[in-house]
Amino acid sequence: MIKHIFKTNNELLLAMADFFIKNAQKSITEHGEFNVSLSGGSSPKKLYEMLASPDFNHMVDWKKVNFFFGDERYVPADDPESNALMAKKALFKPLNIADDQIFTVNTHLNPEGSAIEYAQQIATHFKEKPIRFDLVLLGLGDDAHTASLFPGTDVLEETAATIKPVFLADKNVYRITMTAPLINQAYHVAFLLFGDSKTAAVQQVLEGERDVAKYPAQLIDPQGGKVYWFMDETAAAGLSNK
Ligand code: 6PG
Repeated sequence: MIKHIFKTNNELLLAMADFFIKNAQKSITEHGEFNVSLSGGSSPKKLYEMLASPDFNHMVDWKKVNFFFGDERYVPADDPESNALMAKKALFKPLNIADDQIFTVNTHLNPEGSAIEYAQQIATHFKEKPIRFDLVLLGLGDDAHTASLFPGTDVLEETAATIKPVFLADKNVYRITMTAPLINQAYHVAFLLFGDSKTAAVQQVLEGERDVAKYPAQLIDPQGGKVYWFMDETAAAGLSNK
């Protein structure tokens, strides 16, 4: 596990953009495409806007990038809560990404059906090869969840499926999420987080007791890959080992 800690949000985002671009260039050079799973929520929005900006957008052959989602809210595609809608506005539309390069969750089906269909989309893309993303971007919730692997949910114990629906009783909503086994098959996994709302969760996940039911982000440990934590000093303030 590699930690990259930055004083300011801008330095953090610049480093994350550089990391994303270098991974994209290397993957495209090595195997002709870059399969990346995007995180949702608010933290990555500025990163996506930065990647789509004139300062950076010429650095990647975007026609060779395939975009997936680590999780999705179970809402219509035009709902402001949709992770895919956020990415479409911040990244796909400005870069004119073709639809066949974007793999989104079809939330017109019921939650179980949406998860099964998404898993099939991903399996079809990878054909007979193992499903190994070149990069999985993740965020961290204040409760130490990542993707939609929330504390106390059954999906934390999933060992076989790649995509599962998750019901969040306290919010009375469904999410569709990649499972930890699928994320852990990736070559690179990068957490991007900042701000004081993350400080406690970062300390619990990285230095607290091992308890994946309470701190699901502890499940993220790619066997044949590496995990990176990109954060600002505020989020990392609780760490004794920086
Ligand atoms: C989502 C994300 C989720 C997110 C964390 C952090 O769908 O919300 O995938 O796992 O990364 O909740 O969210 P913020 O970046 O908004 O703090």
